[in-house]
Amino acid sequence: MPEYDPKTLARMQWLRDEINRHNHAYYIQDSPEVSDAEYDRLFDELSGLEAAHPELVTPESPTQRVGAAPLDEFETVRHSLPMLSLNKATSKEEFLDFHRRVRDLSGLTDGEIQYTAEPKFDGLAVELIYREGIFRLGCTRGDGIVGEDVTLNLRTVKSIPLSLLGGSFPELLEVRGEVIMTKEDFAGLNRERERTEQPLFANPRNAAAGSVRQLDPRITNTRPLTLFAYGTGRVEGEGLTHHWDSLQRLKRFGFRMSEHARLCRSVDEVIEYHQEILGKRDGLPYEIDGIVIKVNAFSVQQTLGELSRSPRWAVAWKFPAQQENTRVEDIIISVGRTGSLTPVAVLSPVRVGGVEVSRASLHNDDEVRKKDVRIGDTVVIQRAGDVIPEVVKVVESKRTGEEREFVMPGTCPECGSRVERPEGEAIHRCTGFACPAQIKENLAHFVSKGAMNMDGLGRRLLEQMVDKGIIRDPADLYFLDKETLMKMDRMGDKLADNLLDAVAKSRKPALANLIYGLGIRNVGYHLAGVLAKEFGSIENLAAQDIEKLEDVHEIGPTVARSLYSFFHDPTNLRILEKLKDGGMEFPVEQAPAGESPLAGKSFVLTGGLATLTRDEARSIIEKLGGRVSSSVSKKTDFVVAGKEPGSKLDKARDLGIEVLNEHEFKKLVER
Ligand code: IVH
Repeated sequence: MPEYDPKTLARMQWLRDEINRHNHAYYIQDSPEVSDAEYDRLFDELSGLEAAHPELVTPESPTQRVGAAPLDEFETVRHSLPMLSLNKATSKEEFLDFHRRVRDLSGLTDGEIQYTAEPKFDGLAVELIYREGIFRLGCTRGDGIVGEDVTLNLRTVKSIPLSLLGGSFPELLEVRGEVIMTKEDFAGLNRERERTEQPLFANPRNAAAGSVRQLDPRITNTRPLTLFAYGTGRVEGEGLTHHWDSLQRLKRFGFRMSEHARLCRSVDEVIEYHQEILGKRDGLPYEIDGIVIKVNAFSVQQTLGELSRSPRWAVAWKFPAQQENTRVEDIIISVGRTGSLTPVAVLSPVRVGGVEVSRASLHNDDEVRKKDVRIGDTVVIQRAGDVIPEVVKVVESKRTGEEREFVMPGTCPECGSRVERPEGEAIHRCTGFACPAQIKENLAHFVSKGAMNMDGLGRRLLEQMVDKGIIRDPADLYFLDKETLMKMDRMGDKLADNLLDAVAKSRKPALANLIYGLGIRNVGYHLAGVLAKEFGSIENLAAQDIEKLEDVHEIGPTVARSLYSFFHDPTNLRILEKLKDGGMEFPVEQAPAGESPLAGKSFVLTGGLATLTRDEARSIIEKLGGRVSSSVSKKTDFVVAGKEPGSKLDKARDLGIEVLNEHEFKKLVER
């Protein structure tokens, strides 16, 4: 056992505690105590110490949330206590029926029964298992008896503590809760997917569920997920007697809890709570579809017991669905940044779940055909939170024969250019290069957060500048002067200065932000970061051929092709030059490649190694800048084969991939 400087050990422990505390303040309490830069410094210091002392890395260290390679499939996990579902009530009467049953079966009087009332989150139910306060296993609800082991994915969710806060924990604690995506995060994710032409998620619940049930934890890591804890499964040691106390304790352990949970001392309080939360529903940052009412005392819960699938001590009082009928007055076309033509239904205004709706996206021509939506039809509209309303279906019985079919126009309604539908795509596109709709969308993207981040340059102002012919492309922003700005509507001296300031600040962008800001088709924020790391400069990125681009992990043929065509389009090259003329400094960020023979290389491990565990081999590879994946593909650089290798070795041989034995592997990493 090597000797450590006790100061180093103590420092690492202090850093972990400090980082955990800041995570909690940021992700759970929404009140960060330190700046991002300060947080990064702590994190970097800990990562540095861990890199120098890999044997001191603990799995619950805050640096260890991501890093695992994709799985081939999920293992299954049997819940130690079934994860039940809930009986539903849809009216006050049905809730009162529930209450009467509780009263009659428990033999208690009205005044003796306490309930907790909580929002019913609309996400994916999971169970998290903690032993001695350390997160060990996380799984989905599955069929309630057996779920899937999604530990690696749940580790990436920042509101899930890897180690519990505070001091005395039960030996075993099973925490149950719902993984959700907030409305805002969902909208952001879908905007990004729309931009990069990936299929959209239908609602936050699907997005959350799809993100948790991902075989590649690195993808889950890019998805904005939140866990709300709402109860416990098995608890060993230090049991509590009431659900409410158990919720308070979970909060102390560092879980995110609903700030709207309430202890109700009478049915009237529950009824009041239902009304209150229904009123707040639209304003909540996440989607809920009702409230859950649970008998507070565990002893009473036990007396009441369970039916096969649901307990007698709890009920879900659901809210009315957010659907309404209305008439399609017209179907118009909206032109997006990439020139996509989207049919939009113009509706007779109708209130759905408290908000007036007058438009709904029909996505594309195929969708209009599939749903057979015609102008004049009566349709069912659905709104989920802040999500763009959608047409669920046509009410065929309301057809009069007067309805008109929608026809995709042959020319762009914005600029009159020809419209085409590229082969294999569902989307019609405007071919016009100078289409003002495209320019506006491009500019809005270029100045957005994550790209050039030009604060204050709002959509209206950009549109005005395009309409007045002041800017035609993003580079024109760098030639703006105060005199020109002052000619815009509602422009003041101070605002003009601020805008020029924001433009000036963006002249030294980080490479990832610049790549993202260029709005290359299929290249979202995450891939922009990957490309920046890999190529280090715009010039280097622009010089790659399709094959080289495809060699990069996470880059497939579609992205490679769109990068290649972007950097081979004369107009784009002209704009890049013009950005430089406008004073933008193109960043050069040294790519790490070259220092280590493993940097950027992809490894697959198969069979048992004699002197290393698989985890140790993995951590060595990753420390040296390599990657470990679970399956062999064309992109694999090395297969490390130990004793009794599996079919991966055959596949490597088939594909002509270099195979290393343990000795060769060790020589490679010790170089
Ligand atoms: S308690 C026996 N509390 O609703 C108790 N569930 O239909 C069962 N859910 O699978 C769970 N919010 O996904 C409980 N505050 C809450 C909840 C909640 C959402 C979901 C959960 C569960 C389903 C039951």
